[in-house]
Amino acid sequence: MELVPYSAADLWLTRALETDERVMAELGGPWPDERIPLIHERRLASVARGWWCFTLVPSPDDRAVGMLGIFESDFEGQAISEIGWSVLPEQQGKGYASAGLALLLERARADGRWGAIHAFPGATNGPSNALCRKFGFELVGQGAFDYSGRSLTCNHWVLDGAVVADAAHAAGATDPEEHA
Ligand SMILES: CC(C)(COP(=O)(O)OP(=O)(O)OC[C@H]1O[C@@H](n2cnc3c(N)ncnc32)[C@H](O)[C@@H]1OP(=O)(O)O)[C@@H](O)C(=O)NCCC(=O)NCCS
Repeated sequence: MELVPYSAADLWLTRALETDERVMAELGGPWPDERIPLIHERRLASVARGWWCFTLVPSPDDRAVGMLGIFESDFEGQAISEIGWSVLPEQQGKGYASAGLALLLERARADGRWGAIHAFPGATNGPSNALCRKFGFELVGQGAFDYSGRSLTCNHWVLDGAVVADAAHAAGATDPEEHA
């Protein structure tokens, strides 16, 4: 698994993910196609600003299977680091998000700037909550959270900055090829 920085060539991936009913089921439903260029441009701008957005590339000759990233966000008036992830529907359940998250958390440890990392998966989002649990995030609450103007009932998980690296190891992310 390789984390490849999101680039101008990844518009197709944003379109495939964000217009898909299954991917967006826990995020308030798919975005209309006309919104995709805006989301893509925002993503490129956030990368230019230094936020992390990576595509998940299982091996060098493969197309990306999803993306994940860490960005600055706001929680109750406080600046926080937030993490997000998504994988193409036909590629889910193969361990790709787990493999990517292990790499991302290793990077976060090496980089050292993100501190505690927050995640806000939908309360009924089985795989996303499973990922948080698996990587040692602590469940600290549940409530209504804004997602691009949509109010969603989400769980609030936090991974303490001091345990970011340990979490990647403790989760023991397996090789995706073995996971399937
Ligand atoms: C969340 C998501 C990225 C996971 O990607 P993935 O590559 O399928 O994840 P993995 O294969 O690494 O599996 C992650 C864990 O979820 C578990 N899982 C899968 N489906 C599950 C379900 N319905 N309920 C509970 N756990 C589930 C898996 O068993 C695995 O845990 P394990 O390794 O301990 O067995 C993917 O489901 C997705 O893109 N969802 C839509 C987008 C989304 O909701 N993003 C979250 C925004 S916060």
